[in-house]
Amino acid sequence: MKNMDNRILTKLKQRLSPKRLTHSLGVSETAVRLAARYGANLDKARLAGLLHDCARDMPNNLLLQTAEANAIVLRDVERRAPMLLHAPVGVIVARQDYGITDPEVLSAIRWHTTGGPDMSLLDYIVFFADYIEPGRSFPGVESLRALADRGLEEAVLAAYDQTLGHLMAERALIHSDTIEGRNALLLKMK
Ligand SMILES: [Fe+2]
Ligand SMILES: [Fe+2]
Repeated sequence: MKNMDNRILTKLKQRLSPKRLTHSLGVSETAVRLAARYGANLDKARLAGLLHDCARDMPNNLLLQTAEANAIVLRDVERRAPMLLHAPVGVIVARQDYGITDPEVLSAIRWHTTGGPDMSLLDYIVFFADYIEPGRSFPGVESLRALADRGLEEAVLAAYDQTLGHLMAERALIHSDTIEGRNALLLKMK
C-alpha cells in the first residue's frame, strides 16, 4: 500500500500545484481520522482523499473534452462552470492514470464537489474532509470542524448549508445534485 501511495504521490506532484497537493494531503489525513471515528475503511479514505482533486488543475477545455470523450452528460451549470467537472473527470483520471478500480474510492471522488442524493459513508467522509482539512480557513470553518465530532450527518448538512448560503450570496448557479443531496440527507435524518 505504501509503494502504491508513493507512485500516486509522484504523479500527483507533476499534475497538481504545490498548494493543491498540500490540500490533498490534508484531505487524506482528515478523511482517515473521520474514517476511524465513523467506522469506514481507512485505506480507502486515505486513497480517496489523496486523489479526490486529481483532475482539479486540468484546464477548462480539457475538462470539457475529457467529459465529452467519456460520454459524461453535461448540464448547463457545468458548461458554465467547467470546474465542477473535476469530480466526474477525476473518476476517469483516477481509473486511467492512477489505476484505481475500487468503486467505493471512485464514488467518493465522484461526489466530493457537489454532493448528491446517494452517498455512502465514505463519500460523506471525503466530502466533509474536503471542507475542514487543516489548510481551510474560510469564516465558519472552526464551527464546522467542531461538528465533525458530533455526528457526520449533522456535519455534512452544515457543509451543504454553508455552500448554498455562499452560492446564493454570490448569486452563483447551484448544481441540482447539491440540492438533491441536501434533501436526501434531511429526509434520512428526520
Ligand atoms: Fe475538488
Ligand atoms: Fe478538494
